[in-house]
Amino acid sequence: MLDVIHFNLVSAFLFKKQTCKKFLNYTLRSMSFSDALRSIRIYKKVFPDRGYNVFRSVFLIFIARHFSFVAVNKRNEVIGFEFCRFSREDIENGTVHESFIGVLTSDSGKGVASKLREFSSHVFEKNGLKGVSSRIVLSNIGSLKSARKLGFRVVKTYINDDGKEEAYLIKWFSQ
Ligand SMILES: CC(C)(COP(=O)(O)OP(=O)(O)OC[C@H]1O[C@@H](n2cnc3c(N)ncnc32)[C@H](O)[C@@H]1OP(=O)(O)O)[C@@H](O)C(=O)NCCC(=O)NCCS
Repeated sequence: MLDVIHFNLVSAFLFKKQTCKKFLNYTLRSMSFSDALRSIRIYKKVFPDRGYNVFRSVFLIFIARHFSFVAVNKRNEVIGFEFCRFSREDIENGTVHESFIGVLTSDSGKGVASKLREFSSHVFEKNGLKGVSSRIVLSNIGSLKSARKLGFRVVKTYINDDGKEEAYLIKWFSQ
């Protein structure tokens, strides 16, 4: 456990960020401290049923945000986020894990999640990573559709802790 946190901490310092990218009326960029705070507020809105704790917030705000991304609107308000981290499996595979992706309902269906995934993959590849992993509940058609379109492939399916069928996916950059 501590070695995984240590890996994330070191990666946070070494990670090379990328200049932002425009898309429709949105800007995609690496997550700042205030973006992380706003993203956590959106997280609570888009994942109302999910557990939430202080340890996770501290990890997201101080460590994971260095290799996480947001989409902001013209008023510079965060409307979508992609929190990433390195799990043990990722460290072994040379990948990074997309922990949570969310887009406000007011801005969904416009390709924001897909563009965030595309942008982050580009930045991760530039940082020398081999791919991105993700876990998606099979009933989450929107997220699955966006992930598959961007090259994520199902590696395995299993029943998660909530009793739902879930897929573990990886997008390899070299394929
Ligand atoms: C899932 C989520 C991130 C998608 O964000 P988004 O910005 O609306 O996604 P995109 O606009 O990039 O859509 C990607 C594709 O999925 C489709 N799609 C999006 N939501 C959909 C839905 N509920 N049902 C069916 N298809 C959907 C889009 O039409 C698009 O397909 P297309 O490219 O063929 O037109 C967003 O709805 C969300 O935050 N949901 C709640 C949190 C969540 O479930 N996160 C994912 C956990 S893994």
